Amino acid sequence: MADPITILQDRFRAALTAAFGQDHADTDPILRPAQNTQFGDYQSNVAMSLAKTLGKKPRDVADEIVKHLEWQNVCSEIPGVAGPGFINLKLDSAFLNEQLAPLVGDTRLGVTKTHTPDTVVVDYSGPNVAKEMHVGHLRSTIIGDCIARVLVFAGDTVIRQNHLGDWGTQFGMLIEHLIEIGRNTQGAHVKDLNVFYQDAKKRFDSDKDFADRARKRVVALQGGDKETLSYWHTLIDESKRHFNEVYQRLGVQLTDSDIRAESSYNDKLPGVVADLEKAGVLKVSQGASCVFPEGFKDPDGNPLPMIVRKSDGGYLYATTDLAAARYRIDELHATRIVYVIDSRQSDHLAMVFATLRAVGWSRDGVKLEHVAFGTVLGPDRKPFKTREGGTVKLIDLVNEAEARALKEIESRNADLPTQEKKNIAHTVGIGALKYADLSNDRIKDYVFDWDRMLAFDGNTAPYLQYSYTRIKSIFRKAPPPPPPEGVTNSSAILIVQPAERALAIKLLQLPGVIQSVAESLEPHRLCTYLYELAAAYHKFYETCPVLSAPDVATRSSRLALCDLCARTIAKGLELLGIGVVEQM
Ligand code: ARG
Repeated sequence: MADPITILQDRFRAALTAAFGQDHADTDPILRPAQNTQFGDYQSNVAMSLAKTLGKKPRDVADEIVKHLEWQNVCSEIPGVAGPGFINLKLDSAFLNEQLAPLVGDTRLGVTKTHTPDTVVVDYSGPNVAKEMHVGHLRSTIIGDCIARVLVFAGDTVIRQNHLGDWGTQFGMLIEHLIEIGRNTQGAHVKDLNVFYQDAKKRFDSDKDFADRARKRVVALQGGDKETLSYWHTLIDESKRHFNEVYQRLGVQLTDSDIRAESSYNDKLPGVVADLEKAGVLKVSQGASCVFPEGFKDPDGNPLPMIVRKSDGGYLYATTDLAAARYRIDELHATRIVYVIDSRQSDHLAMVFATLRAVGWSRDGVKLEHVAFGTVLGPDRKPFKTREGGTVKLIDLVNEAEARALKEIESRNADLPTQEKKNIAHTVGIGALKYADLSNDRIKDYVFDWDRMLAFDGNTAPYLQYSYTRIKSIFRKAPPPPPPEGVTNSSAILIVQPAERALAIKLLQLPGVIQSVAESLEPHRLCTYLYELAAAYHKFYETCPVLSAPDVATRSSRLALCDLCARTIAKGLELLGIGVVEQM
């Protein structure tokens, strides 16, 4: 990717090698966009980090680097050394113009595909059959979908996997309950999956005969009894309908073909345990077959077991995850597997990963990553619940997001046709909901706050969507020939004003941002970038007249900048799974 930072990095490495020898050919120049652009556009901290190893003063190291740095053609002046040894770089306008030129007609906005693509399995959403999706599944679904989109754009081969929870002893009670209420009326009952599940559980806990029948039903299910299986399929189909409705409303790219449910690994589980035994890592403890992955201890300091087969012969969540990982590595040929799961499952996953490595099922170089995330909190900073204390259903959040957005649109743009207002409210409401989740550092908990996520200012989706409409409105106002035809692939961008420079530099940062999100799997980095880009645009718009620019060349250059900015915001939002509208 030939964005300014990559070019600068290459030149820094050359300078470091020239100054301090071949050992430094790969040293990270630690280049960052400058916080205070008064002194430059980018800043390098490498002198401070190198000083110790070199046994020199940071400022001397910085001077030495600058002496060897080929800054000409990239920077407008010799880089300055400031403070303890910061190197400040001011980019040359002609260089910026040159860098921007290829972006004007580029749908990829300068982001080239990676030369070392991975086959990435993204494991996300993973709801459970016969249970309503709740707010906890919101995060996995939204973050996972964004990560899949970003990796596709970055050039990886992405395989989405929805590890549906469709197996376990609770199915005895669920099927028995379904039989009792009558399958034919199931439409009405299973429609509210929560009520269905709770009713079954109530029966199970209070009625001994029912509980006995439920236990027998588990055995029948495991034994492949035809009738039992058909009830089980009914539950799965009903649940899938519900999940698909949520995915569709949220604009999540998961389809039925991405489902690889827990039960699909059932016939592999005995083999997993047998192979663990062959590998010599299986130990029997109180009748249960366990693995004791190295480095895991319980609070008393004893080795922590990961049970793979219970004393009654039943298999567990961990066994299925081992089988799933083998399938992904051996049959899907994954080179990277990312698990988008609640941070409370960190230990579980760490033990699964350790076991996979210990027994050599994870080939060398296969990257296993837990994309962990925190909890959604209510205004009381406790896990988000309904006013009655129940779990918040995802579908209710989706409905409320749209309803609240509609109210906002009504008050701003009352004259729009009703259907259009609804469409806008859908895009804005869902966007707000997703962005509130994605813009927070995922590992942290965050407080769910309707007013903040729907605000038209601040780091929110509506702010970015609104910025987009503002830019587009310029094009609606522009006299003929009406852009986008007015902005052609050859429209030259000519950077003159400071606000133009700042905007240009932001626009050129997209490739680096995509790369960093693809590596770190942290969507909030993209959100922060888009927010800064929109802010740079508004500064530009305040100080640089576009339609009433002083001359034709400046006008066309600024229009091209606007167009590029609008497309960058739209692309960034698309990668977050969020849409744009033409007005709002
Ligand atoms: N169904 C699980 C849950 O609700 C999530 C599945 C995550 N994926 C996995 N491979 N374990 O907690």
